[in-house]
Amino acid sequence: MDQADAVRLPDAERARAERDQEEAVRRELEDYYRAGRPPWDTGVTPPELVALVEGRGAPPPGRALELGCGTGTNAAYLARRGWEVVAVDLVERAVRQAREKVGAAARVLCGDATRLDELDVPGPYDLFFDLSCYCGIPPHRRDGYASGLTRRAAPGARLLMFGYGPEAFDDPVSGVTAEELRARFAGWDLVDTTPGTNPFPTFWFTLRRNAAAA
Ligand SMILES: C[S@@+](CC[C@H](N)C(=O)[O-])C[C@H]1O[C@@H](n2cnc3c(N)ncnc32)[C@H](O)[C@@H]1O
Repeated sequence: MDQADAVRLPDAERARAERDQEEAVRRELEDYYRAGRPPWDTGVTPPELVALVEGRGAPPPGRALELGCGTGTNAAYLARRGWEVVAVDLVERAVRQAREKVGAAARVLCGDATRLDELDVPGPYDLFFDLSCYCGIPPHRRDGYASGLTRRAAPGARLLMFGYGPEAFDDPVSGVTAEELRARFAGWDLVDTTPGTNPFPTFWFTLRRNAAAA
C-alpha cells in the first residue's frame, strides 16, 4: 500500500491496512533470522562507517544509536572504538545474537526504530547509524523514525545511513532517495550522498543535525 492508496481509505480501514503492512514486514524479517544467517549479516563493518569513525575529521567518541542493528557487528565495532552505544532491532532473534556479540560493551534493545519513545533511549546522541533499516520501513512509519531521531539528536549530530534505492525492490513502497530524506528530515542537512558499489542503486547518505535548529 503506498501513501496515495492509504489516503483514499477511511481511517479505520487505513489503520488496519497499515498494521497489516507492519506485521508483514516484521514476519518477513523474522523468517530471515529463523532460517539462519540472513544474506546481509556479513560480519564486516563497512568502510564508510570506519571512515567516519576513524578517518580524517572523525568526531571524538560520544553517544551512538544504531537503528536496525541486526546481530550487532557494527554496535560492537563502535563500542570498541570508545562510543557509548545503544542498538535497536525489531526482531528478538537478532537482538539475542547481538547481545551475545557485544556483551556488556553496548545496550541492545528489542523494539521499533520508528517508536523510540517506547524504549529507554533518551539520548542525546552524537551519531545515528542505519545500515539498510530505514529503506524497508513502511512509508506511514517514516515520519515517526525521523522525528524520533530529531528529538534525540545532539546539536551537529550525524546520521550515516545506507539505503537501497526504490529500483532495488519489487514492491512500490520500499527504498529511499536523497529527495525523500531532504523532505522528511526537517532541521537536518543532507551533506553527502555517495552511491554504493552494488549492481543496483544503493546510497550512503550523511545527514547533519542543523546546530541552529537543535
Ligand atoms: C537489512 S537488515 C540489516 C541489519 C544490520 N544493519 C546489518 O547490516 O547486518 C535490516 C534490519 O533492520 C531491522 N528492522 C527493520 N525494521 C525495523 C524497525 N522498524 N525497527 C527496528 N529494527 C528494524 C531488521 O530486523 C533487520 O535486522
